[in-house]
Amino acid sequence: MSDLTQAWHHARAPLATALGKRLLAHERIAMFGPRQTGKTTLLRDEVIPYVQSRGAIAVYIDCWMDMDDPLQGINYALQKALEGLSVQPRGMKRTGSTPVKRLGVMGASIDLGDPPKRQTPDRPALMLDSLLTQILEETTHDVVLVFDEFQSIASAKNGPQISASLRAALTQADKRIGAIFSGSSDVQLLDMFSRTNTPLYGFAKTEGYEPLGLDFIGFVARKFHEATRRDLNQVLAHETFQQLGTQPEPFLHAVSLVMANPAWTLDRALDEMLSQHSPNKWSATWRGLTGLQQVALRLVFEDRPPTAADSVVWAAAQLGARVAPSSISRALEALAAKGMLERRTDGRGWMLIDPVQRAWLERNAAAPIKSAASGH
Ligand SMILES: Nc1ncnc2c1ncn2[C@@H]1O[C@H](COP(=O)(O)OP(=O)(O)OP(=O)(O)O)[C@@H](O)[C@H]1O
Ligand SMILES: [Mg+2]
Repeated sequence: MSDLTQAWHHARAPLATALGKRLLAHERIAMFGPRQTGKTTLLRDEVIPYVQSRGAIAVYIDCWMDMDDPLQGINYALQKALEGLSVQPRGMKRTGSTPVKRLGVMGASIDLGDPPKRQTPDRPALMLDSLLTQILEETTHDVVLVFDEFQSIASAKNGPQISASLRAALTQADKRIGAIFSGSSDVQLLDMFSRTNTPLYGFAKTEGYEPLGLDFIGFVARKFHEATRRDLNQVLAHETFQQLGTQPEPFLHAVSLVMANPAWTLDRALDEMLSQHSPNKWSATWRGLTGLQQVALRLVFEDRPPTAADSVVWAAAQLGARVAPSSISRALEALAAKGMLERRTDGRGWMLIDPVQRAWLERNAAAPIKSAASGH
C-alpha cells in the first residue's frame, strides 16, 4: 500500500538486541502480538542479522508455508538450512569464522570429500529430529530457530503431534539451540504453551510482542518534517496509530496522504483512506461478504448479542427477509474462518480481529448491506 514502510523503516535495535541475546543464551520464547504490527519485520530484519553477527546460524521458518501440513514447511526450511551449511568451500566447515549459509555456485569449491550424509527418515516427525541433528553436526555454531506464524500449528489437524516432535527435537540439544515461536493469536499461542497436558506446556516463556510506540511516532514526525518542513502533531499521530491497532502500514499511508495534502489533518486522511467510496482493502472486504455476514459483523462491532431476538429482528429488516438465529451463527463461523472474528478469551461471544476494519465500520455506518434478494 505505502512505500513509506520501506523508506521510513524504524529500526528497533534495543528490542532486537535484547531478544537476540536471550536467543543466544538458548532461551525459548513464545512471542505473540496482533496482526500487521511488525513481528516478522523485527525478526527477519533485525533479530536474525543480530544473532548472525554474533556467529549463530539462524533459520527462519514460516510455519504457514504449507498450510495443510506445517511440519512439511518446517522440514523444508531446515533442509534448506542444512544444504546451505554443507555446501561450503573447502576449509569453511567447522571453523570459527562467520558462517556462510548459501553460496553462489560459481567460484565456490564444493567439498566433495565429505562422508556420505546420514539417511534422513521419511516420516516427517522423525525427519525433523534428524535434520536438526544433522545441522548441529554440520556446524559448531549455536543455532537460532525462528518459528513465524506459529499459531498455524495450533489449528493444524496434526498440531499436537507436531508440537510433540518439536519438543523432542529441540530438547536434545538445548545447550546449543535458541528458539522463538512468534504468532498473531494470543489465544492459540497461550493455549499451546500454558495449558497443562499439551505437548509444549511450559516449553517457552510466553510474552507479548512490544508494538511500535512513541519512539516510532517521534521518528515519523522527524521524517515528516524533513520531507515537508511542516510539523506533525505527535499526540494526534499517536492517537491515530493506536486507532489503527499500531499497524505501521495503514498509519504511514495516512501520513503520506497528509504529506500530499497540506490542508488535511490525520483524521481527515483517515476518513479518506477508510471511505467506502475510495478503493481500499477494507471496503473490498466488506463488499466481498454476504448480506448475512455483513449484518453479523456489524452486530459484533456494535457489541450486540448477535443471535438475541432483537438482533435477529434487526438483521431481518436489513436483509429484507426472514432470518434464523442459526443462519447468523453460521455467518459468524464463516467470518471466523476468514480471519475476521475470533472468540473472546472469556467465552463471551466474538470480537473483531482487525482494528482497522473496526475503524472502517465506525466511519461507514451507512455502508450498504446486501439484501437477501441479491442472491446471498
Ligand atoms: N519498524 C517498522 N518501521 C516501519 N514499518 C514497519 C516496521 N515494522 C513493520 N513495518 C511494516 O508494517 C507492515 C507489517 O509488518 P510485518 O509483516 O512485519 O507484521 P506482522 O506482525 O508480522 O504481520 P502478520 O501478523 O500479518 O504476519 C509491513 O508493511 C512492514 O513493512
Ligand atoms: Mg508476520
